[in-house]
Amino acid sequence: MAEDAGCRVGCIGAGNMAQGVLRGLLLSGKVQPKDVTVSAPSDRNLRTFQDLGCHTTHSNIDVLSGSSVVFLATKPHVLPGVVKEILPAVTSDHVIVSMAAGVTVQTLEDSLPPGTKVLRMLPNLPCMVQEGAVMFCRGHWAGQEEADLLKSLLSSCGLCEETPEAYLDIHTGLSGSGVAFVYMFAEALAEGAVKMGMPSTLSNQIAAQTLLGAAKMILKTGDHPAKLRSDVCTPGGTTIYGLHELEKGGLRATVMNAVEAATERARDLGKR
Ligand SMILES: NC(=O)c1ccc[n+]([C@@H]2O[C@H](COP(=O)([O-])OP(=O)(O)OC[C@H]3O[C@@H](n4cnc5c(N)ncnc54)[C@H](OP(=O)(O)O)[C@@H]3O)[C@@H](O)[C@H]2O)c1
Repeated sequence: MAEDAGCRVGCIGAGNMAQGVLRGLLLSGKVQPKDVTVSAPSDRNLRTFQDLGCHTTHSNIDVLSGSSVVFLATKPHVLPGVVKEILPAVTSDHVIVSMAAGVTVQTLEDSLPPGTKVLRMLPNLPCMVQEGAVMFCRGHWAGQEEADLLKSLLSSCGLCEETPEAYLDIHTGLSGSGVAFVYMFAEALAEGAVKMGMPSTLSNQIAAQTLLGAAKMILKTGDHPAKLRSDVCTPGGTTIYGLHELEKGGLRATVMNAVEAATERARDLGKR
């Protein structure tokens, strides 16, 4: 299964992450809508996939019979029931890819037939606009071929890296939850401008573009953020005055604490 062309993709669960990831796959042209089958209990989210030309069903088992790569995209607490339900239909030809936060490869492998090729991925919300940050790891029976296939498929969703499983909870803190931290920063940035007299619609747009531009600079130059920050600071200029206020407010320590807290919470949830 080295080639992703002609790959038949299934997805159990049709919510935000399923839509984000599958939209990326479809837009890339690597997967055709006719080769995608998605299941969910209600029609609420399935309609989006019907509009995209994908097959939809209320039967999770049906997804297995039509697909070689199967994404598990339900909430983590629903996953054990789903795995139990699909168990009789899982074969050694399937590649099972779980998106559920906190559900370990070990737990998945223990619940599936021995020899099942299992991978675990963690997407984040910007996968919906093909600017996601995805980390994945593989289980005992998933080889380089399956990892290459998944990486090739997911490259259309944004940045995609294979890592040791231990990094996945950290990725949840840094990037899964991190998206919300960035939204809060964007909101505060824009509200500062509103306070100074700029209309909110304009300040929100400018704040978002500022984050986008700053992020692109980090990725394109490869420079450490501290160097880029220092480059903006003219001695005695506006930026260093603003940065001093951020330091007084403990921005850096607060953000580090937030990543730590979210990571610990992901680890905690994974143990349950
Ligand atoms: N959102 C994030 O930023 C994020 C980041 C990293 C990882 N994740 C992981 O991604 C997974 C999905 O999250 P989400 O935000 O996409 O959730 P979501 O929007 O709530 O979607 C959940 C989907 O699961 C479906 N579902 C519920 N019970 C089911 C069952 N028994 N069989 C089949 N489908 C069932 C729901 O069906 P209906 O359409 O009928 O309601 C819905 O389509 C979670 O495990 C989460 O941990 C999410």
